[in-house]
Amino acid sequence: MKIIRSPAAMTAWSERLRREGVTIGFVPTMGALHEGHRSLIREARLQCDALVVSIFVNPTQFGPREDLTKYPRPLSHDRAICRQEGVDVCFEPTAEAMYPEGFQTTVTVPAVARRWEGEVRPHHFAGVATVVTKLFGMVRPHRALFGQKDFQQSVLVQQLVKDLNLGVDIVVRPTVREQDGLAMSSRNVYLSPDERGRAVVLYKGLQTGAKMIRTGETDARIIRSAMAQVIKGEPAMAIDYLAVCDLTTLESLPTITGKAVLLGAARIGSVRLIDNIVVSAKQARRNF
Ligand code: PAF
Repeated sequence: MKIIRSPAAMTAWSERLRREGVTIGFVPTMGALHEGHRSLIREARLQCDALVVSIFVNPTQFGPREDLTKYPRPLSHDRAICRQEGVDVCFEPTAEAMYPEGFQTTVTVPAVARRWEGEVRPHHFAGVATVVTKLFGMVRPHRALFGQKDFQQSVLVQQLVKDLNLGVDIVVRPTVREQDGLAMSSRNVYLSPDERGRAVVLYKGLQTGAKMIRTGETDARIIRSAMAQVIKGEPAMAIDYLAVCDLTTLESLPTITGKAVLLGAARIGSVRLIDNIVVSAKQARRNF
């Protein structure tokens, strides 16, 4: 496995392969790789000829009071996972190379990124959209894979690629969960053993909502309140938002008649968790 740190060297490597007709797959990450990343890397390995994983803790997507300095950076563990999974290039640009002096241009995010996470973390998605655009420019992949765990991010990236004609095929893969259902996340390492035991209640709340929709409940107000009741059963958990939304616009749906995504964010101690479930409404029985 090659380790490339310079953006110019990264682009030169990709351009050479593209000229030879090689399909390049890309998994952008901030490192601290877990089984969720591993499943993206494995899928990319199957779908593409050559595979690049980037490891870059992007400062512009962290708010001033967020965890940029303490964000986990287990580089040798990350490289070992990449080697095990047959990654061809681990791209590890420095912050100076990504944002050199004089850097000025940022991506303005679409409506889909201004609600939910966008309201709680106002600068987050502009940072994500800008760094993803830059990484695509440097890596020049044919295809990039993202996890459904960050549902709003995946919708944003699809909109970004479409609006800016970035020419990258975006693949979104299902969330990988711990045995009890907690969504895998690099930030789970911040949970104390006690918080870790309680954290799964966010997913349990979302599951309650999903079950209600599958069994015929269509009123989003009733579903939201049932999800909140489950989560509030765990007093250590503070809800940021619970939403029943359209899959592409992420606008709140008052009534669920087709597909919907249940989005949730909550805090336990100093750790913020997000999760989601995509669900289809029970189809009305047709009489013939
Ligand atoms: O999902 C992440 O890890 C990050 O938001 C990403 C896409 C690598 C951009 O920094």
